[in-house]
Amino acid sequence: MPEKNILKTLEASLPPILFNILVDTGRIASTLGLKAYGVGGFVRDTLLGRKNLDVDIVVEGECYPVVDGLMERYGLMEVIRHERFLTAELYLDSYRIDIATTRKEEYPRASLPQVVPATLREDLSRRDFTINTLAVCLDPERFGTVVDLCGGLKDLEAGIIRVLHKESFTEDPVRIPRAVRFALRFGFRIEEATEALMVEAIEGGAPREASGRRMLDELVNIFEEERRWQIVERLFDAGLFNALVDGFDNPEGTLSILRKGEAILGWYEGIRKEEEVEQWFVYFLCLTDSLEGDALRKLSCWLDVGGKRRLLAIEKRDEAIGALEAIEKDPEDRVGIYEVFSSCPLELVLYIAARGSPVVEGAVRLYIEELMDVRPILTGRELKGLGLAEGPRMGEILRLVFREKLEGRLQTLEDELRFVKDLIEKG
Ligand code: CTP
Repeated sequence: MPEKNILKTLEASLPPILFNILVDTGRIASTLGLKAYGVGGFVRDTLLGRKNLDVDIVVEGECYPVVDGLMERYGLMEVIRHERFLTAELYLDSYRIDIATTRKEEYPRASLPQVVPATLREDLSRRDFTINTLAVCLDPERFGTVVDLCGGLKDLEAGIIRVLHKESFTEDPVRIPRAVRFALRFGFRIEEATEALMVEAIEGGAPREASGRRMLDELVNIFEEERRWQIVERLFDAGLFNALVDGFDNPEGTLSILRKGEAILGWYEGIRKEEEVEQWFVYFLCLTDSLEGDALRKLSCWLDVGGKRRLLAIEKRDEAIGALEAIEKDPEDRVGIYEVFSSCPLELVLYIAARGSPVVEGAVRLYIEELMDVRPILTGRELKGLGLAEGPRMGEILRLVFREKLEGRLQTLEDELRFVKDLIEKG
């Protein structure tokens, strides 16, 4: 087969600074008698004509002399080294470049895996799918030549997701959702034997053996994909979620809540850009809608969802849902609506809108558009001016002003002062 060279495509698709770094990396490595390659997603995407600025480089032998050479060449480059993993991160302008020594994991008896130097072939062979094993030569003599050691080109052209070996999914179960994510992102199909291994790994309970934190990262990646709900649907069909924890028993309902959640988030972004919500966490709450409280807590703990605000949302979910009955009965009760939602993180409030009836959704919109911003204009200082002393009575009056404001009966400072004077006169 003739050699494939992507020099021109790289030059056209990368910003000049990144392209120059590739050229310089190859040159520096060559001066040191080493060989450098571009690897991973950015090679795959360049071949597919898709933009990808996450440049990953490996150096066969040792990466650090090349890292030092690049630092010298670029002066201001910021570098973080993870020597135990034989990797480094370089930062230049707004770009991040990952450089690693070609490596593999060894499992010395009864101890944690150790990362050790390996050949390029060994490094590529431990990866997830053939389409992710493609490398590009950075050596000045062969710059741009595609290196295909595991059959990646053929699969990339045919649109196939294929694992490299039988244990791939059991060794790293995070590859199960990754396979589906890539298949839908590129419109590829998962090869039959790979699909069978995936099902086998799920049925054998592999997903629960994964690192929860990495599984969560993958979930977040899925939520950022264009065809996210199709990916989630395929993962429901494959039984992935129930392999993590029991209780994902309403896929259709959940998917409709997720889609509704997306619409609500779109509405929210439109009206309140300055107050950010964690989109992925709204989706996470939607995805786990069918779980009982205990299962939700168990899953969240395993995934290491973390964060005070997120844990509060998880803790308050069932209580907040329980309180919706009162809102359904009296959707005009602005104070009641405020009382239910004001103690909930906004992500929880948006999720509640996604899963609730039109009445509940209306209440959420009212809360976000109006009620959550309500604050009395007057302060303790103005109240003192009216002759009130600090103390429980003042607190009580401020609360009453606040309720009147929630009801929409007080607009201006004058309205508030008049209301307070009346209260004082009535005693
Ligand atoms: N990889 C792997 N197994 C995983 C995750 C990653 O073998 N569970 C390998 C793949 O070969 C991948 C490389 O590590 O190409 C880099 O991982 P990542 O940056 O997550 O993958 P990309 O392929 O760049 O994916 P994306 O386009 O979503 O960033």
